[in-house]
Amino acid sequence: MAEKTDTVQQIKDRLSIVDVVSQYVKLERAGSALRARCPFHSERTPSFNVSPERNTFHCFGCGVGGDMFTFVMLSEGIDFKGALKVLAEKAGVELVYSQKDTGEEAARMRLFELLEATTVFYMGQLSPAAKTYLESRGITQQTIQDFRLGEATDAWSLCVDYLKSKKFTEQEMVAAGVGRKNEHGGLSDKFRNRIIFPIGDSVGRIVGFSGRIFGPLASPDAPKYLNSPETDVYHKSRLLYGYDKAKQAMRTLNCAILVEGQMDLVASHQAGWSNTVAVSGTAFTVEHTQIIKRMTDNLILALDADAAGIKAAARAARVALQAGLNVKVVQLPEGKDPADLILQEGSEAWKLAIKDAKDIIVFLLDILESRSKDTDGFRRSVELSVLPFLNDVSSPIAREQYTTLIARRLNVSEHAIIETLARIPKEQTIAPKNTQTVPIAEVAQSRSTHSDRVRTAFAILLWQQSATHPQLDHAVYEASLREALDDTLDELHTMSDSDKEKLRFEAERIYGVSNVLSAEVESLLHNLKKDRVTKKLHTMSEMLKNAEAISDESQIQTLMDQIALLTSEIAYLHIMR
Ligand code: CTP
Ligand code: MN
Repeated sequence: MAEKTDTVQQIKDRLSIVDVVSQYVKLERAGSALRARCPFHSERTPSFNVSPERNTFHCFGCGVGGDMFTFVMLSEGIDFKGALKVLAEKAGVELVYSQKDTGEEAARMRLFELLEATTVFYMGQLSPAAKTYLESRGITQQTIQDFRLGEATDAWSLCVDYLKSKKFTEQEMVAAGVGRKNEHGGLSDKFRNRIIFPIGDSVGRIVGFSGRIFGPLASPDAPKYLNSPETDVYHKSRLLYGYDKAKQAMRTLNCAILVEGQMDLVASHQAGWSNTVAVSGTAFTVEHTQIIKRMTDNLILALDADAAGIKAAARAARVALQAGLNVKVVQLPEGKDPADLILQEGSEAWKLAIKDAKDIIVFLLDILESRSKDTDGFRRSVELSVLPFLNDVSSPIAREQYTTLIARRLNVSEHAIIETLARIPKEQTIAPKNTQTVPIAEVAQSRSTHSDRVRTAFAILLWQQSATHPQLDHAVYEASLREALDDTLDELHTMSDSDKEKLRFEAERIYGVSNVLSAEVESLLHNLKKDRVTKKLHTMSEMLKNAEAISDESQIQTLMDQIALLTSEIAYLHIMR
């Protein structure tokens, strides 16, 4: 039976990345690559590149890249399995799974079926009282249907009994998080006395539930919301409630709205903002930002306006800024959440609140200014609570604009802000930053840093090794590079495949269209050799100092000889230049 990796290869053999990508964007030839305006971020000049040779894509603007599977995942906002299905169909390849996969896949499919059956069951249980309650909160019949809202009654085991009748096992019910072992060794319903909000994955398959307390028999100490436990298909740090319904609107409106609660999400969609998503009983994570970034770079936070909400907003904002999202904050009337606002003041008020969303930095400045006693206090609190945010902003342009803004608000020079910023210890980043690595043009020159040169040299190696018609004898080049790098080449090879592919694109972009490659390579190798010798010289000098400190005469002599040798080697390298 075929392994899945075989299927992936088969699909790649039959389809070209060009065919796949062309369905979404218009490609134009540029040297050995094809180019287009990036479908994943908005831009005026095309920085999205496709390599028919390597069957991959890469955008220099936003940094995304990968193969045709990644492309479909990002474009459609679906996971790998989903992309596999889409592409298999397009390629006319039948999906066959290995024995192990069949077992795992079948078990997952059973989980999805069970969760679907549970959803239908809860929907059927929705009582007139619950409907009345939802209506009183402004939720319409249509929304109840669209979001498949349901109810878990006071009964102990109605749901698990129903699932038993559908031939699901107790083990499966526990694995899906809808049943729990009780003290008597039997199985009870996990959710009781609750209005049920089914939670879908990115393609809308139900993967878990959130239940809001409801009903006359509900225990007063029960938590207001109860969520599914982590299961094979429910991972709260990777799930955004409403994403399956929001993803298209997130792309077309080029912005996502983040709310905190289930009720807020449903109300916001009903009010016409179908680009709204919610975290479900957890903090906003790096993984959440990545899901949002599939569709848009702009995020509007609409978290509660109480103290805890502002703290949560600040935390979420840092995560989002570090991931490179632009962040705005909706200001809600004190003590109100979006659902309250929509119910009490109408959809128009919600729309205005969204339109008036403030840039995160402005938002923080405003809060601090209103809370500070005097100018000095304001300045101090900005230094403490706003400048750290500025360090998170990954776009240099945005950072500069913010610097100007803050300087103006504080009535100080921009220079003062920049200086203060430099003194703030960089906090551990929460998200892997989209590090602005030095573009590799001209790094062969000795005024670039050693690590720039290593990076470029390695990029050229990877690119040439993958080329059908290489411009260099890459085996010879590799040997020289290995020598120049003192065997650290193997360490470089441990970087991820996607990082390597990014390097190939960079090298190709610069050297693929010119004929300076061999001159560049020579200069690079030369400078790398110089780096190596200089570093050795430095180590030797340190050792010499130590030897002198303890008056180790024989060691001193050995080191002096070696240093003399290295010095003449450096002189020679300089002359050779
Ligand atoms: N939450 C949770 N567990 C809790 C309390 C809250 O998971 N014990 C999550 C839920 O996702 C909830 C969100 O935090 O929707 C916001 O909580 P809260 O502000 O307390 O509730 P509201 O959304 O305002 O609840 P409602 O409007 O239904 O009264
Ligand atoms: Mn609420």
